[in-house]
Amino acid sequence: MTMNERKGMMRADALKGSVITITGGGTGLGRAMARYCLELGAHVCITSRKEEVLKKAADELEKETGGQVLPVVCDVRNMEDVERMHASVLDRFGRADGLVNNAAGNFISPTERLSSNAFKTIIDIVLMGSVNCTLTFGKHWIAKAERDRTILNIVTTYAWTGSGYVVPSACAKAGVLALTRSLAAEWGRHGIRSNAVAPGPFPTKGAWSRLVPGEMMEKFDMTKRVPLGRLGDHQELADLVAYLISPYSGYVNGEVVTIDGGEWLKGAGQFNMLEMVEPGMWDAIEQMVRGTKGS
Ligand code: HXC
Ligand code: NAP
Repeated sequence: MTMNERKGMMRADALKGSVITITGGGTGLGRAMARYCLELGAHVCITSRKEEVLKKAADELEKETGGQVLPVVCDVRNMEDVERMHASVLDRFGRADGLVNNAAGNFISPTERLSSNAFKTIIDIVLMGSVNCTLTFGKHWIAKAERDRTILNIVTTYAWTGSGYVVPSACAKAGVLALTRSLAAEWGRHGIRSNAVAPGPFPTKGAWSRLVPGEMMEKFDMTKRVPLGRLGDHQELADLVAYLISPYSGYVNGEVVTIDGGEWLKGAGQFNMLEMVEPGMWDAIEQMVRGTKGS
């Protein structure tokens, strides 16, 4: 199946009547998630800092899907913005069923070049932004005893491996993963599920321009890092996200699902570099190894 042929996997009514809020939903992966939620019958709120981007995305998504999109300007670092955004969702749709903490900030840099404010900026967007939205939606759900609610956090595989050159992001995403697992245990009894998705490389303008700028794209071919030899397709991620916020995943709580074509394991396995050995060399290598006797 090619990228253009890929159709969504979920039943057409999987999210019918649900209201899903996606932070950073006007661009990149958030927009792909928003589009698929709309196709599955959800009403969607998309948020970010740029009004024009949001309004354009909302218009386009409504035309493409026939669904209803509420664009709300909201800096997730600012609790007043988040509370106003949450109130707008309730005002427009009368309910809130799902929260996708997708908004993020990131850039590559040797850590010794970072100022304290550079580090804080990423922590504030990624970790505190997810915390602010989670607290706002979660407190409301618990106070109103509204059950069958879902929080889905978008992390990345270096949330558990760590990674040089994106250290603030790695620290923040690790925090978001801890938030995911902690609240799965604490808020499960309120009927609030908390899960995460860890994508590998999915091409977006926001990520690519900050992580593989200019010629770095040719120098560091991302597809070579992935056992499947390709980048992710946005619909593949949208399928997983839609499943995890839908009632079909009703017994999944506290999970982080990796969707990276095997990328992080390839980097982790000590001998995976042996793929560089020419196949014709293996007879000679085997003989050498078999010929080794004793210590
Ligand atoms: C060093 C930098 C820097 C850089 C900014 N700073 N860019 N330091 N190298 N390239 C410093 C600034 O000098 C400042 O510190 C501080 O960071 C804040 O910068 P601002 O520009 O004032 O911040 P702001 O306008 O809030 O912009 C935030 C941003 C920007 C993160 C810097 O890039 C942004 O808005 N990004 C949003 C979208 C995004 O990043 N998308 C990619 C997500 S990809 P001082 O000390 O000078 O005040 C992703 C993928 C993960 O997460 C996994 C991939 C596989
Ligand atoms: P993106 O298009 O840059 O998405 C980030 C979004 O967050 C933008 O819409 C941005 O909008 C918004 N945002 C940033 N700061 C914000 C703030 N303070 N308040 C509110 N919104 C803010 O990049 P993407 O690739 O789609 O990334 C989406 C998610 O996937 C992120 O969580 C990222 O870490 C994760 N991810 C991506 C990849 C990948 O390969 N692309 C891999 C792993 C994980 P504004 O700037 O207009 O506010």
